Amino acid sequence: IAKQVLFKNPNEPPMVFSWFPVVGSTITYGMDPPRFFQENRAKYGDIFTFILLGKKTTVYVGTQGNDFILNGKLKDVSAEDIYSVLTTPVFGKDVVYDCPNSKLMEQKKFMKIALTTQAFQSYVPIIADEVTSYFKKNADFKGTSGIVDIPSKMAQLTIFTASHSLQGKEIRNKFDESLADLYHDLDMGFSAINFMLHWAPLPWNNKRDHAQQTIAKIYMDTIKERRAAGKSDSQDMMWHLMNSEYKGGVRVPDHEIAHMMIALLMAGQHSSSSTSSWIMLRLASRPDIMEDLYREQVEALGADLPPLTYEDLSKLPLNQAIIKETLRLNAPIHSIMRAVKQPMPVPGTKYVIPTDHVLLAAAGVSATDPQYFPEPDLWEPHRWEKDHPLTPRLSKSEADEEEKIDYGYGLVSKGAQSPYLPFGAGRHRCIGEQFANVQLQTIVAMVVRMFKFRNPDGSNTVIGTDYASLFSRPLEPAKIYWEKRNP
Ligand code: HEM
Repeated sequence: IAKQVLFKNPNEPPMVFSWFPVVGSTITYGMDPPRFFQENRAKYGDIFTFILLGKKTTVYVGTQGNDFILNGKLKDVSAEDIYSVLTTPVFGKDVVYDCPNSKLMEQKKFMKIALTTQAFQSYVPIIADEVTSYFKKNADFKGTSGIVDIPSKMAQLTIFTASHSLQGKEIRNKFDESLADLYHDLDMGFSAINFMLHWAPLPWNNKRDHAQQTIAKIYMDTIKERRAAGKSDSQDMMWHLMNSEYKGGVRVPDHEIAHMMIALLMAGQHSSSSTSSWIMLRLASRPDIMEDLYREQVEALGADLPPLTYEDLSKLPLNQAIIKETLRLNAPIHSIMRAVKQPMPVPGTKYVIPTDHVLLAAAGVSATDPQYFPEPDLWEPHRWEKDHPLTPRLSKSEADEEEKIDYGYGLVSKGAQSPYLPFGAGRHRCIGEQFANVQLQTIVAMVVRMFKFRNPDGSNTVIGTDYASLFSRPLEPAKIYWEKRNP
């Protein structure tokens, strides 16, 4: 500590005080990252450094911080240097962070191109049918009312809907057999502790490796069967990748398609299932909003509520706002990290971030800043309507969805000056945003047709957040009381 105080480099951001040299603030950060950011921002300002597992980690919050980190140049920042130890054993070789960034950009382009309007038009009925049959068949939803722990249900529903729409019927059907357990084993590779122990011959890492190999083989066998059977009119992502070529005309090898399928499902699974769980819990805490949603559908689509289509989703602004507002308060990715490749001067300050620091962006801080969002802690989906008293205060430049940029995976909104970035920004921005919106909006619309929710104790409270794994989610048990609309 004396060393910290006496030999502090004036060009480095202020250091969060801690009594423990290596552990540093790991525990206080890990228990509640948003609170940790808020408290230290109040003490030190928008840039500060803390020790995370022995590593100097520099947090830069606010819109300028988001931009500095997420739009950082390739020569300055690296995602793969941080994430590949964790993701390569889970996804497999030669994809995402186990290849040069230029290859990732091409892979993201393949995925983005596959998600056409036509594809979404075919996905909505698939997702809607999965939701209906899930609640019909699931033993915990028999009868007219009951109480259920919602996150595990949403996890299943997310994987059934994503696998069916993005990977096709053959893969979806395998989730009723061995694939669900295999993905469960693979998932253990994503525990936060694996940032340190990813290499260790621990039982869960052995299971992870076995699961990765078995799942990859299932995808590769399916690809071979599809090739043998000839063409299909399916709009799923696997078909699209089978017909994609890298620059220079090289076909995407089967093992890379398989590994991208794993990466897609894992990326989508944690974020979407956490978000849908939060949505259901939020609705249980505000039954009045659930009624507003039901009325919205009746008014926009007719009292007989016909089968849902992709076009219908755009007629349901409150249904869309539910997702927006939930991601504002419960974004599943609270911290985005980058390795520093060369000393980075921070514009407008005296600071230079050295290469032995890791940079951490936390877009949730600006998403809960009263400067932009009046009554920031209040979950109020109606705030996204025009002229609502709580409408977000986003100036044109901050809401700069207009400004487009191409990092190699198609035009995306630059967006890093916006205070609202649940899908990130820059070259690593999410390509699953539109899919997640379609998936979540369809799930919410179908659930609202079938159920009324409330908290089991009738209160308006919402459960706390579990930050123990890399993606945050509701603390369990997280129970809701459900009642069927048409028993
Ligand atoms: C990247 C959030 C759903 C695929 C990201 C990033 C964020 C994010 C914040 C940036 C990560 C970084 O900069 O390090 C979310 C949220 C989702 C969601 C909140 C749902 C509510 C999905 C889905 C898919 C997906 C459904 C796949 C279909 C990806 C991919 C990347 C990404 C491929 C790029 C990683 C990179 O370039 O490094 N997502 N995501 N995401 N996401 Fe999503």
